[in-house]
Amino acid sequence: MFARAIPAAVFARRRRSLMDQMGQGSIAIVPAAHHALRNRDVDYPFRQDSDFYYLTGFPEPEAIAVLVPGGEREFLLFCRDRDPQMEIWHGRRAGPRGAMERYGADKAHSITAVDTLLPPLLENRERVYYAIGYNAAFDQRVMGWINQARAKARTGVRAPTTFIALEHLLHPMRLRKDSEEVAVMRESARIAAEAHRRAMAICQPGLMEYQLESEILNTFLRHGAGWAYPSIVGGGDNSCILHYTDNNAPLADGDVVLIDAGAELDGYASDITRTFPVNGRFSGEQRALYELVLAAQKAAIATVQPGRHFNEPHDAAVRVLTEGLIDLGLLQGEAEDLIQAEGYKPFYMHRTGHWLGMDVHDVGHYKSGEDWRIFEPGMVTTVEPGLYIAAGGAQPDGAWARLGVTLETELDPRWQRIGIRIEDDILVTERGNEVLSADAPKDIDEIEALMRDGR
Ligand code: GLY
Ligand code: MN
Ligand code: MN
Repeated sequence: MFARAIPAAVFARRRRSLMDQMGQGSIAIVPAAHHALRNRDVDYPFRQDSDFYYLTGFPEPEAIAVLVPGGEREFLLFCRDRDPQMEIWHGRRAGPRGAMERYGADKAHSITAVDTLLPPLLENRERVYYAIGYNAAFDQRVMGWINQARAKARTGVRAPTTFIALEHLLHPMRLRKDSEEVAVMRESARIAAEAHRRAMAICQPGLMEYQLESEILNTFLRHGAGWAYPSIVGGGDNSCILHYTDNNAPLADGDVVLIDAGAELDGYASDITRTFPVNGRFSGEQRALYELVLAAQKAAIATVQPGRHFNEPHDAAVRVLTEGLIDLGLLQGEAEDLIQAEGYKPFYMHRTGHWLGMDVHDVGHYKSGEDWRIFEPGMVTTVEPGLYIAAGGAQPDGAWARLGVTLETELDPRWQRIGIRIEDDILVTERGNEVLSADAPKDIDEIEALMRDGR
């Protein structure tokens, strides 16, 4: 869903910044995404490539952006021609003229001319930036264009000699969100938070998981957004399946339901998880586990600050969860030993966060050399600790055996079939952080009140 909330000047500023970093003597080639067939003659909904969209704002398939810093024309766009017949059937196209008028291309051409017009642009350029190795067919085309330049060597033409992954320059830019991106991400999270509130408000025993999913999707669509990833709606034991997307089981009285659902607005994702009791009241065991995950999440969020490093939220969450599991009698041993040996992993087997942006698991390195990345203003990370006790109880793994710890495998059934995750989207600010998804309730009293009163 690309509604162009971000003005053309912002895309121009990004291209300028990228070209300044590339320097003279270089060229960048950035292809759009392509249609993918779903079945027979039905395509998957088209989703623009994130890198391409970040630089162009251009929403169509069959397009290639070319950036030539210092050239007479620095931003060239190859795109589909206008075609009245195709536009009647499939929708409007900008065409090369529209690409220049509305998308800021210095010059735009028909995509059908790319094999003729692009190779000369490579002549006497030293460095080529493009996303090497992600699309074998496109790699071959680029090599074909390079070889056309090489074939002119005896006429004095120099072909490029250096090939550089575009992400090396582009992804650090995408990692630090500009103010326009932050505004869109705030709105994406606001919409997703409303969707979670709606799901809580209508939930009751006997509904199907997909009926909560439909409330979520309805909220996204009502606000002009789509989904950033397929929604997870898992009740009871399904709440313990991390990437559950069947969403087709009934929601039972006495169970929890875990919803991991995020919107995509103008190309930007939100990623929110909430867990709540199907009948609106947490049981004692659900409450104990929920309070523990919430305490871990709050401790983790407190570490998302400029100057702290990316793994600090995970370290904080693991410590709170491990100590709490010991207090509840679900883990036996010393906290330090259990943390060291990852003894918490039968209950908490994933990491605590990831970068968030145009891609739900967004681009950007997590380490710089050997060290964890330091948080800087403009970065957005999720914080999403959880605890999962599937039917049958958590099973011991090698870490337990090495520690000589025996796990209580015959857990009381009241502890079982409970998966809890609480996930928020956290913007690093100059002074600390902003929880973009704060509109989705997560304190037990707030959730129970919303489910009781419906608002
Ligand atoms: N929804 C995917 C994730 O939480 O990472
Ligand atoms: Mn996530
Ligand atoms: Mn998620």
